[in-house]
Amino acid sequence: MRISIFGLGYVGAVTTACFAREGHEVVGVDIDESKLDLIRSGRSPIVEEGLSELIAEGVREDRIRVTRNSLDAVQQTEASLICVGTPSRRNGSLDLSIVTQVAAHLGSALKEKNSGHLVIFRSTVLPGTVNQTLIPMLEEHSGKQEGRDFHVCFNPEFLREGSSIKDFYNPPFTVAGVRQDGVASILRSLYERVQAPFLTTTVEAAEMIKCTCNTFHALKIAFANEIGNLCKALQIDSHEVMGIFCQDTKLNLAPVYLKPGFAFGGSCLPKDLRAIEFQSRNLALDLPVIRSILPSNALQIERAIEMVLDTGKRRVSLMGLSFKPGTDDLRESPLVVLAERLLGKGLKLKIFDDHVSLARLVGSNKRYIEHEIPHLSRLMVESLKELFNHAEVIIVGNKTSGFAAAVRELGTAQHIVIDLARITDNPSLHDNYHGICW
Ligand SMILES: NC(=O)c1ccc[n+]([C@@H]2O[C@H](COP(=O)([O-])OP(=O)(O)OC[C@H]3O[C@@H](n4cnc5c(N)ncnc54)[C@H](O)[C@@H]3O)[C@@H](O)[C@H]2O)c1
Repeated sequence: MRISIFGLGYVGAVTTACFAREGHEVVGVDIDESKLDLIRSGRSPIVEEGLSELIAEGVREDRIRVTRNSLDAVQQTEASLICVGTPSRRNGSLDLSIVTQVAAHLGSALKEKNSGHLVIFRSTVLPGTVNQTLIPMLEEHSGKQEGRDFHVCFNPEFLREGSSIKDFYNPPFTVAGVRQDGVASILRSLYERVQAPFLTTTVEAAEMIKCTCNTFHALKIAFANEIGNLCKALQIDSHEVMGIFCQDTKLNLAPVYLKPGFAFGGSCLPKDLRAIEFQSRNLALDLPVIRSILPSNALQIERAIEMVLDTGKRRVSLMGLSFKPGTDDLRESPLVVLAERLLGKGLKLKIFDDHVSLARLVGSNKRYIEHEIPHLSRLMVESLKELFNHAEVIIVGNKTSGFAAAVRELGTAQHIVIDLARITDNPSLHDNYHGICW
């Protein structure tokens, strides 16, 4: 394929060299003459292991050419990858001036082109930027229509400086954020030799995936450093701790606990987090990442309360009360907090939880229910039918298969459903169905 690559910085230079090595014809575009001269002479514009050799090979075999002229680059290629910088502004926002300028130049070049063209944005941008800012810019300057005269997609980059050539060939995945199905197959052929799952999604989701990855990477580093600081203060080997921690690929380095939903609770996480915080305060250690976990969790409960109050309805039914499905354990259950707060707002509440109902009769939780939450115990009903008959608003608190089937069968019209537990994978189940964070 013939491709043009705009911006020959870290991402652009590596992408140019690697695609050329794969046999594609690459035209590199940059405004920095010194970078263009370096590449023309077969040298790398950045310091990166193995890159000079690849660039020299690409230039020698005439698969890499460079220019300042975006018009020529667009005319001579079928697709353009945009890899220019999106640096921080002083106020923290992304400075989009370079990428929008490139979109304007590309638009002008597309105006002169008689055949179609694919514009692949790789620069990291916030969700919505491609659809709301960059495509309108391309359309304005080309006088043409995206989806008909040319196509646009977002294809985030996951390479890391220092190991970027290896990362180019072995990324965690290739993500194609597309607006038309056919575009994904063009991208797929471009990445034919890259050994990684090829995942297709919307442009906005692809933009968000890149931001989510970077946020998580940063969170992991800050978390590990805070654990390290705490370990050092306690004279414990942090590398031994984290080394063993990382060997748990069931709960620690795993998809579990990474599903958007409701607050955590139970007899362990809140208690143990408070204890760690207490100890770090005693050691005069500030651990801001760890310190912000419980406040973040409390905000998720507030969010659920707001969703219920925003309906303006008074009769509310809660499906589930224990802190997670399959248990009668009510200690620090966020659903107990939610129920108490809704009662405090004067709403008429009924609750169904078959594990807790059983525990009211027998078991170790009987005493807890009778002494700690008798006011909630009195609101419990014995069947989902009774629960639904009472409700204008139904809150799904726990994910059990019985609840999922009941909500599906319920139909829609007379109930508003607020789902805290992702009871269904169909977020557009019906108009009155609202997920807490989807
Ligand atoms: N550096 C990384 O490891 C990395 C990894 C993944 C994603 N990203 C993202 O990729 C994008 C590029 O990052 P980078 O580190 O390669 O940037 P960079 O600043 O190193 O390079 C940008 C290049 O664009 C050129 N340029 C500026 N204006 C131009 C124009 N009008 N036309 C053509 N070229 C122009 C600059 O001269 C420069 O060579 C950013 O959005 C970044 O967030 C970077």
